[in-house]
Amino acid sequence: MTFIPYGRQWIGNDDIEAVAETLKSDFLTTGPKVAEFEEAVAGYCGAKYAVAVCNGTAALHIASLALLKHGDKVLTTPNSFLATSNAILYAGAKPIFVDIQKNGNIDLDLCEKALEKDPSIKALYAVHFSGNPVEQEKLARLKERFGINILEDCAHSIGAEYGGIKAGSCTNSDASIFSFHPVKHMTTGEGGMVTTNDKALYERLKILRNHGMVKTPKMKPWEYEMRELGFNYRITDIQCVLGISQLKKLDGFIQRRKELARAYDEAFAGNPLIRPLYNYNGDSSYHLYVVLTDFGSLKISKEQLFVKMLEKGIGLQLHYIPINRQPFYRRLGYGEEKTPVMDRYYADCFSLPLYPKMTDNEQKYVIKNLQEIVRE
Ligand SMILES: Cc1ncc(COP(=O)(O)O)c(C=O)c1O
Repeated sequence: MTFIPYGRQWIGNDDIEAVAETLKSDFLTTGPKVAEFEEAVAGYCGAKYAVAVCNGTAALHIASLALLKHGDKVLTTPNSFLATSNAILYAGAKPIFVDIQKNGNIDLDLCEKALEKDPSIKALYAVHFSGNPVEQEKLARLKERFGINILEDCAHSIGAEYGGIKAGSCTNSDASIFSFHPVKHMTTGEGGMVTTNDKALYERLKILRNHGMVKTPKMKPWEYEMRELGFNYRITDIQCVLGISQLKKLDGFIQRRKELARAYDEAFAGNPLIRPLYNYNGDSSYHLYVVLTDFGSLKISKEQLFVKMLEKGIGLQLHYIPINRQPFYRRLGYGEEKTPVMDRYYADCFSLPLYPKMTDNEQKYVIKNLQEIVRE
């Protein structure tokens, strides 16, 4: 059996042919495939506008510059990749880490309490962790009651739905971001996107992506004007054509992820040692399959489990180390927040391999080895 990682891309001949065509075309970057990819993703999610960038972190960065002001306080989750709260810092704003719910998502009731207590809080960054969307009606309530800016980090959740609301549609938020890293549902190698329904925000994002530079039809042919400090966060046409090709297959990829999630659920049903983070949920687009184990009741530690599985050629992962406990964040004064649910979750959690190209046999091999090692 070849090595089974926790996540990986699925590139087909159709993807390769599409990329090869673009390599032979006139535009490798700033060409027609960028707008085509943006329209395709906006259409898929049901948002009005989309801005494609070179990775999900760049998407978070420009969205944060557009949504936040220096010194703004922003509620966010400790259970995410570093990039989510780093982007708040990039904008000179201040993350406030809120505890999670048992399903790994930020606890929006605690967010509401924090907003009642401190009306100077300006924004909320919510991650649909593992592909399972946060409660949209609660986002709507927080927006209406407190007038805060909301960003949805959809890096895990393209294709997910909550009560018919598609992740990235920005129905109850100002902007959403995506990542197209190879472990995600669909890939462009590296790549990211911001979606929004706000025209002014959209225009600003395009300027920030391209050096803060503007070119209008009234200008002389060589002229451009720099209006603010922006970046080169452009994505190439080569990446975008891969994204267009992958997007066509996205629903099939998600279907397969769901099948695998159900099979894991069934395999672990009634096993008190291995508990899925949540029981099968058709709304989740299953970027991750997270399980919880009470290591205190086992003979092996989590580290030993990771090593033993690796010896069998299986890559486990852990999503996530609480961001606020990272040394850099501790230097900024974070790290002592009371987040009991996150602490318990972090002690118990790990992620099993899940990707659409995974075969039934590979999954059975993962399940068998995990059950044997845990039982030992
Ligand atoms: C929740 C979340 N947000 C943001 C990002 C950043 O995306 P990228 O790796 O494309 O910069 C990631 C990537 O892993 C992520 O998981």
